Amino acid sequence: MSEKKHRVSRRQFLNYTLTGVGGFMAAGMLMPMVRFALDPVLRPISTQDLVQVKKVDELTEEPQRVDFKIQQVDAWYESEEARSAWVYKEGETIVALSPVCKHLGCTVNWNSDPGNPEKFFCPCHYGLYDKDGTNVPGTPPLAPLDHYQYQVKDGWLYLGGARPKEA
Ligand code: FES
Repeated sequence: MSEKKHRVSRRQFLNYTLTGVGGFMAAGMLMPMVRFALDPVLRPISTQDLVQVKKVDELTEEPQRVDFKIQQVDAWYESEEARSAWVYKEGETIVALSPVCKHLGCTVNWNSDPGNPEKFFCPCHYGLYDKDGTNVPGTPPLAPLDHYQYQVKDGWLYLGGARPKEA
């Protein structure tokens, strides 16, 4: 073979060099865009973060309402969502109940119906729950109130997600 065949012409050299540099620059610009588009989708879904809501020594045996906010991440849209809970102490046990009625989702209140003292009352269709969140038979709700997952750290009560009560 002649040496001439292996020679790269000036034009070819320039083409290779410009293609290589151009490709490198294009990749450098595209990668952040691709990452931005895919990152929230590829990010592992973490369990809901716990939110600090109240000092443990302020809890009483009487249910108290606490209002708090959680960070919601929906793909790449982040927002804050308002939540509430009914919290109380029963001896050493802490109970944190969701106020969302299991009938059609209205908000229940503690001890607000004079005819049914010491109960959670839902004004929408007169639903009733005992203090531990158990639905009172004969009223519309067919399931107990959800319980928040909780943690106590440095004297504070933290709440996570609300889950149906385990049987
Ligand atoms: S929504 Fe609560 S009783 Fe119907």
